[in-house]
Amino acid sequence: MSLGLARATREADPSDTPETDEAGFLQDLQLALSAPPHGISPKYFYDAQGSRLFDRICELPEYYPTRTERSILSAFAQEIAEEAGTRGDLVEFGAGSCSKVRLLLDALRPRRYLPIDISAEHLEQSAAELEREHPGLLVLPVAADYTAGVRLPPPLPGAPRIGFFPGSTIGNFTPAEALRFLRGAARLLRGGGLLLGADLVKDPAVLHAAYNDAQGVTAAFNLNLLARANRELGADFELERFWHSAFFNAGQQRIEMHLVSRQRQQVAVGGEVYELAEGQSLHTENSYKFSIEGLRSLALQAGFRPGRVWTDERRLFSVHWLHAPQ
Ligand code: AVI
Repeated sequence: MSLGLARATREADPSDTPETDEAGFLQDLQLALSAPPHGISPKYFYDAQGSRLFDRICELPEYYPTRTERSILSAFAQEIAEEAGTRGDLVEFGAGSCSKVRLLLDALRPRRYLPIDISAEHLEQSAAELEREHPGLLVLPVAADYTAGVRLPPPLPGAPRIGFFPGSTIGNFTPAEALRFLRGAARLLRGGGLLLGADLVKDPAVLHAAYNDAQGVTAAFNLNLLARANRELGADFELERFWHSAFFNAGQQRIEMHLVSRQRQQVAVGGEVYELAEGQSLHTENSYKFSIEGLRSLALQAGFRPGRVWTDERRLFSVHWLHAPQ
């Protein structure tokens, strides 16, 4: 999967693609290293290796969000279709391998599916597979950064668009970015609605385990950011000199991920040398957790009218139907 999001470090550039984003990565990493506690956008996790590691995270016993959301979508696909009630375009933000949408297609029966993702190659492949599996469904992949504003083909006459934003990716935005994204989605989906997956606040021990798995896959995912900088920017990070730190920040209601320097050290990135103190951290990700009411009020602020909400029995995860304004 890939995130098209940009943190406060740098505004999303509509021309960003994995191929051209190197300059942005360099600039953002240098900023984060030179001005701690400035963080770096989690979008840089998702090169090919990072995307593979993320896929492994989704299979981990401790990482409940993916399988819980999938179970909600499977169990309530029919109810979701009744609530959404159109047979027009289904637009997915950050579609990746288009795996979750498969749980909805038979119930929603859209005429066209428009997966948006920043990784064009991956998207083309997944789109072609999906079209083979669902004859009669027109798949129109859109290779774009969905946070930077996308242009879509006009909606089918009389059938407003349905949006799909699963995985609690909304939690990786800052609150201001989440609001901005939702406002943009409300405009794009005018007259239709958005199906949104959001992870819920819960026992911190459950959250802690999900981001500190026993096999160390999340640690490898986090450290891959430095490995990527070595591969792409010619940086000289020694990965064993950093440790993965993930903890629940209760005040902010978010999991924070950091890479912490185990010792005083120097690192070179893009011809500049940075001095890191022992314990200095590079803040790599926030993953906000929501209450159902909190998410609904955010959606309301963005112009949506919150509709039905589906959760699992343990109330780990939530899926929201949000009516877009006319
Ligand atoms: C993609 N995103 C919703 C994941 C999350 O849980 O915030 C990314 C992730 N980071 C560590 N594990 C998974």
